[in-house]
Formats: sequence, C-alpha cells, structure tokens
Amino acid sequence: MKAEKKTKYIIANWKSNFTETEALQWVSTFISYDFSSSLGNFRIIICPPAPFLSLAREKTKHLSFVQVGAQDVSFFPEGAYTGEINARALTGFAHYAIIGHSERRYYFGETERILSQKCSEATKNGLEPIFCVRAAGDSIPSHVRFVAYEPVEAIGTGNNEPLKKVLAMKKNLRLLPETYFIYGGSVQKSNAGEYLNNPEIDGLLVGRASRDPQSFFEIIKQYAA
Ligand code: PGA
Repeated sequence: MKAEKKTKYIIANWKSNFTETEALQWVSTFISYDFSSSLGNFRIIICPPAPFLSLAREKTKHLSFVQVGAQDVSFFPEGAYTGEINARALTGFAHYAIIGHSERRYYFGETERILSQKCSEATKNGLEPIFCVRAAGDSIPSHVRFVAYEPVEAIGTGNNEPLKKVLAMKKNLRLLPETYFIYGGSVQKSNAGEYLNNPEIDGLLVGRASRDPQSFFEIIKQYAA
C-alpha cells in the first residue's frame, strides 16, 4: 500500500498589498486551478489583509484544503481600542493568525510580552497562531503549535536560507514533537521543492511569490513533484 504523504501547510502572506478588486481577482484565479492530483497532501492558508478576509473565506469555503488566516491580531480583547481587530472578531473569517512576523516586531515594536498576549488572545478565541521566529533567541509562547522560522536576511531578499541551516535551526529551537515547523524567506518555485519534500519541514510561509496566484500554485506543485 502506498504510504499517505504527510500534510504540508503552504501559507500565502500577501502582506499589505492589493485592492478589493485585485484580491478578488487573485482568489478567483487561484480557485480555478486544478489541485486534484495532490488533494489531501497539503493545506493552503491564505492570509490577506483584514479587509479581504471575508472575501477570501467566502470564495474558498467549498474547498476543504483551503483555509484563511489573519496577518495579525490585537493583543487586547474586545473593548474600547479604536482601530484594533480583536481575535473574537476574526473567528468568523479566519482559522489562523500570523503572530510575531519580523515586520511587526521591527516596524511596530512588538515585544515578547505583546506577542505572548496576542497568542493567548488568539487561542482563547479558537484561532491557531502561526508564530514567527527570526532565530533561536526569540522565545515561543506555550501552546503554539505552528512555528515559522523566518531569518530576517532571507525575507524579501531572494536569498533563501539553505535547507541545512534551516534544519540546524529547527534543532536549536527545541520544538515539542507535535509542533509544525514552517520555513519562510524568499521561497519560490525553484527552491520550494527542497523544503517541501523534506520530512522535517511541515510547510512554507510565502510572501512575495504568493502575490501572483500562478507562482503560488507553482510552489504548491513542487510538493512531491
Ligand atoms: P518573502 O516573505 O517570501 O517575500 O521572503 C516571507 C515572509 O515575510 O513571510
């Protein structure tokens, strides 16, 4: 009997891009692709900017292998916090929330205390945190099941971190056995297969290359291609 391939999580982080029309165009194009040959082997998590979460969710809800994630979540609960998007508000749209991305840490000064608060708000409300770390020094809040290792030098630079170094970092992070270990940083079609087809790596977090649905689809196809 053929062994069932391990489920891999392939995450599109659109970051702060797109108008509503562009977001709609992306999702419509993406769901028109033929995923049948790989069904069951991967989960796709689309993380659009908050105003497009509902659109992404509506358009993909008939596809069991596609889920939606938020790019961030407030560290406050519901309340008088103008402009904030709290975890409870997100639960209708998103299954996941990216927390601790290096851009949030750098541009928005998010500290470990804030990030741990965000994780507890997310989990309390049934959102699964995808917690990003830049290196082994970044502490990981307890109960986090998805850890994305994203070395800053690799993000948006075209210099993806070699597989060997990624695996060495996984060891240094001393993750619990049930943790999903995701790699992110300049992932594209040409390098995705190496990570995806390694049993130690549970998925990919894709920024720039996820802005084009075709190139994101090409990345997914590298799994056991
Ligand atoms: P990149 O971004 O794929 O553009 O390097 C990854 C990320 O920041 O999540």
